[in-house]
Amino acid sequence: LFRRPWAFVTSVAHLEQLPPEGEIEVAFAGRSNVGKSSLINAITGVNGLARTSNTPGRTQMLNFFAAPESAVTLVDMPGYGYAQAPKSMVDAWTDLVFTYLQGRARLRRVFVLIDSRHGLKANDLEVMGLLDKAAVNYQIVLTKIDKIKPGQLTRVLDETAEKIRKRPAAHPQIIVTSSEKSTGLGEIRAEIFKLSAG
Ligand code: GTP
Ligand code: MG
Repeated sequence: LFRRPWAFVTSVAHLEQLPPEGEIEVAFAGRSNVGKSSLINAITGVNGLARTSNTPGRTQMLNFFAAPESAVTLVDMPGYGYAQAPKSMVDAWTDLVFTYLQGRARLRRVFVLIDSRHGLKANDLEVMGLLDKAAVNYQIVLTKIDKIKPGQLTRVLDETAEKIRKRPAAHPQIIVTSSEKSTGLGEIRAEIFKLSAG
């Protein structure tokens, strides 16, 4: 699956433009600047497939990526919780993200990315609550672990595990990643592969 040449399919700014559902969709959600687009580039091995930026709010649409003859579509989402953007824009992205997350029958897993330096925030919990309610399976991915010390990682892992323990749609296993150092990419790929095989 990840030896294939992943390519851009389409960008969607409004829900009425959503493409027909792929066989299996896997989405990457999380606060602005957490590293969603970077992680998609890292796991697909295609540099610049998803556009990344130091400026929060880079990804403003739902971006769909697919590989030839593959059942899997990867979806890069706009980040939530970016306070600097105009409220009208934030509302539009939030609406797009939340509606997509609840209404897609073939959405098999949402990777909820959390910056390992910051841990779960109120808006992450809000998104997880929505996924629990919609019974959409999600899995926490800690990002940018190259930026923290091992002791900090242990602490944020423990805290996060405790916070997801009783959440009905949460996958119990937390994946630890660094797109910078290529950490944890195999685990993400393996999870996606499992979804496509079963
Ligand atoms: P939005 O589209 O704005 O929501 O952001 P995003 O979640 O897609 O983040 P993006 O991938 O654009 O990365 C944001 C910034 O974090 C960029 O400057 C990346 O280079 C940096 N970054 C992403 N992943 C890592 C990582 O694993 N380690 C380090 N050190 N920096 C990272
Ligand atoms: Mg992005």
